Amino acid sequence: MKIIVTGGAGFIGSNFIFHIMKKYPDYGVVCLDKLTYAGNLSTLEAVLNKPNFRFVKEDICDRTAVYKLFEEEKPDVIVNFAAESHVDRSILEPEVFLKTNIIGTATLMDACLKYGIRRFHQVSTDEVYGDLPLDRPDLLFTEETPLHTSSPYSSSKASADLLVLAYHRTYGLPVSISRCSNNYGPYHFPEKLIPLMIANALNDKPLPVYGKGENVRDWLYVEDHCKAIDLIIHKGREGEVYNIGGHNEMKNIDIVKMICRELKKPESLITYVADRKGHDMRYAIDPTKIHKELGWLPETKFAEGIKKTIEWYLENRKWWQTIISGEYKNYYEKMYGNK
Ligand code: NAD
Ligand code: TYD
Repeated sequence: MKIIVTGGAGFIGSNFIFHIMKKYPDYGVVCLDKLTYAGNLSTLEAVLNKPNFRFVKEDICDRTAVYKLFEEEKPDVIVNFAAESHVDRSILEPEVFLKTNIIGTATLMDACLKYGIRRFHQVSTDEVYGDLPLDRPDLLFTEETPLHTSSPYSSSKASADLLVLAYHRTYGLPVSISRCSNNYGPYHFPEKLIPLMIANALNDKPLPVYGKGENVRDWLYVEDHCKAIDLIIHKGREGEVYNIGGHNEMKNIDIVKMICRELKKPESLITYVADRKGHDMRYAIDPTKIHKELGWLPETKFAEGIKKTIEWYLENRKWWQTIISGEYKNYYEKMYGNK
């Protein structure tokens, strides 16, 4: 079996490559990644020299390059992680989100149609469902919840989902889609809530909490997400959408306080800053379908996962310090400079 993993130099894609290569040592894995600011080749160091692994630095929107790769590799399965993934960046500059997340997905599917594959899997997000109110804990996102997006990021992901389902219905492309809640774990880029707060706390820098910090996210350890995708590409039904989440809703402020406690840093570092535009209030996934059909259940509890994650950031300072010192610094100034 040969799998092309796009966006494999990013957070979830790299964790997925490690999972697959460990569990299926006879599979061939090709990582197709443009290495944007969010992609980091050093993340893949542990697998770069393995004979059944290949890294290709290309853009998923580059039709010629994508077709050439399919011709060379004749993949069985494509798992598409490649995306612009940060909501705040999508508010500052939407266009690249439309290009990569929509046009890039369509380009990959065109290659799938031209060369033939067994499965195209689109890694989507719970953000396509919009948000839920705080005072209705009984409401959860199911696969039937209407798409109702808030940000240019989530709108671009929802557009891609619609295209994926259209390629299935119109051309019979064997597709599947997973919509997962917020992930956390190793190699998470330090612009997202959890790694940003860990890195800032370790540097004794202010911890910027948007609004009142009452927004709720449904957190899942990244390995559990990777295991769910593994199940879907091997056993999931074609043309289906699967929600992935572990019933772990938490307020942002509680997470930030937890990180302060774990790192023995004072809560006085917490700084309330201007709210995100169009900020979604609450996400919460109902994972009944993937549990009933494929037997998936999350394995890592948040209390354990956050400890493991913090430990990882303590042991891998070089990885995130290199990132923080580079191009990301300009973005940080733009984002938080006048908040
Ligand atoms: P990330 O930003 O850490 O990584 C994205 C990767 O895609 C990077 O390696 C980047 O270089 C690559 N990339 C970007 N544009 C590209 C292009 N045009 N061509 C080729 N490669 C390109 O993102 P992530 O957090 O790992 O998310 C991966 C996927 O999972 C995304 O599709 C995202 O929407 C989805 N998702 C993320 C979460 C989350 O909590 N992080 C939750 C649910 C779904
Ligand atoms: P984020 O990690 O960007 O994920 P998403 O917006 O895709 O859910 O943000 C998670 C939550 O944390 C979200 O409610 C916004 C909030 N947040 C802050 O309060 N401060 C920050 O500096 C960041 C990056 C996010």
